[in-house]
Amino acid sequence: MRLARALSGALIVVTLVSCSPSGASDQPVAGSGSAGASGIGDDDFPTDGNGGYDVGHYTLALGYDPATRQLSGTATIDATATENLSSFNLDLHGFTVSAVTVGGRPAAYTRSGDEMTVTAELSKGAPFRTAVTYQGEPQPVRNSPNLGTYGFVPTSDGSFVASEPNGAKTWFPGNDHPADKATYEFRLTVPDGVTAIANGELAGQPASAGGKTTFVWRETNPMVSYLATMTTGKFLVKTGDTEGGIPVYAAVDPRYQSQLDRVFEVSARITDYWVTVFGPYPFKSTGGIVDDYASGYALENQTKPIYGGFEPDEGIISHELAHQWFGDSVSISRWKDLWLNEGFATYAEWLWTEHRGQATAQQTFDRHYANATDPMWNYPPGVAQKADLFNNSVYARGAMTLHALRATVGDDAFFKIIRQWASDHRHGNATTEQFTTLAEKVSGQKLGELFGQWLFDKGRPNPITKR
Ligand code: TRP
Ligand code: ZN
Repeated sequence: MRLARALSGALIVVTLVSCSPSGASDQPVAGSGSAGASGIGDDDFPTDGNGGYDVGHYTLALGYDPATRQLSGTATIDATATENLSSFNLDLHGFTVSAVTVGGRPAAYTRSGDEMTVTAELSKGAPFRTAVTYQGEPQPVRNSPNLGTYGFVPTSDGSFVASEPNGAKTWFPGNDHPADKATYEFRLTVPDGVTAIANGELAGQPASAGGKTTFVWRETNPMVSYLATMTTGKFLVKTGDTEGGIPVYAAVDPRYQSQLDRVFEVSARITDYWVTVFGPYPFKSTGGIVDDYASGYALENQTKPIYGGFEPDEGIISHELAHQWFGDSVSISRWKDLWLNEGFATYAEWLWTEHRGQATAQQTFDRHYANATDPMWNYPPGVAQKADLFNNSVYARGAMTLHALRATVGDDAFFKIIRQWASDHRHGNATTEQFTTLAEKVSGQKLGELFGQWLFDKGRPNPITKR
């Protein structure tokens, strides 16, 4: 489920895949399809995602054995061709692929780097099902400059799976870019005694047979690939409902046993509070996972934020839960708009701090603004580049942008804009231009100068008028 987009990778793929069976000509035969692009058209990540089709649903039937670190199974991908195709690509990093079928029939495929090219004649608009059977030891993206280690990371007792920005390909084949959202079913088989946690809700009780247990999870709302998780290991689990009636699933590694009740309670309370600020909760459940893998980071995995090797405080829980609205439900279509995720989640932290009776959002803004030599003044957050994608500017200056907007349009218009943003693009994708257009429409003000200074220009913007 993605927005129609211009495809810029088309020229590259032609050199990677073989031509028509006759091998005689580069000219497409009239009526026949051409190769789908090897990237979805993101300038920062040219080979992420793919062109020519739109995934609607993934079924990931996967087994993982923490002792041998082997992942194996079949990914079934239901998609629709968005152009006439002679082949299409999937993103997949590592593994041995043993079979690929399209429409139930064996399909030829080639692999080159993280691109798998599958030969299939598909007509524009045609739904098609691809099944990929594969196995091997997952290889996360390790120590990438600026982004660290991400993807499917083996832990001492299972796996820590946090894939932003493009680590879904380290555990399943697909269209690994946030512009293509899809629903998911996870059928996860692990040794008895190990818990397998994915997004969405459990479908029935886990079933045990032959020393293994299968957990079936369904995420029935569209989700971007980097938010999918298959976190496994020994876990203590607490389930229940928020006071507002939203189901909660909290899980902690036994090392964090003392945190289970608190993580459950704080996650429930903050989810309910964000409903009052941002509007209806976009998903069917909320929660959190504290794993023993010491990434030191958290990721806003849809319905199941994950905290890597630390006791999450209210600030970070408020951040990851705000992402459920901003990033998870309303998703970016291209990485340079990342402030729409991180600026919003950071501003939510400031709102939570104020709600708790500590610093006001204005005071937090002032503290950041006072530092005239902060490096973030050199990085306009509205045009994040790959090299500084998760730069503090995207977080702090992104949040300041929202506060500057609030100071300019007033509280009523500001919170109306925020709630309308969440509802207009619920379960979809959106861009910075759509946000600035909405802000002007709701406030009735011209805001080009404000957004220009805060999002697009180098240098510290002019002071805001105090509210
Ligand atoms: N989105 C995360 C946050 O700000 C940060 C992050 C990016 C991350 N890539 C990651 C965390 C990979 C864990 C793994 O909350
Ligand atoms: Zn974040």
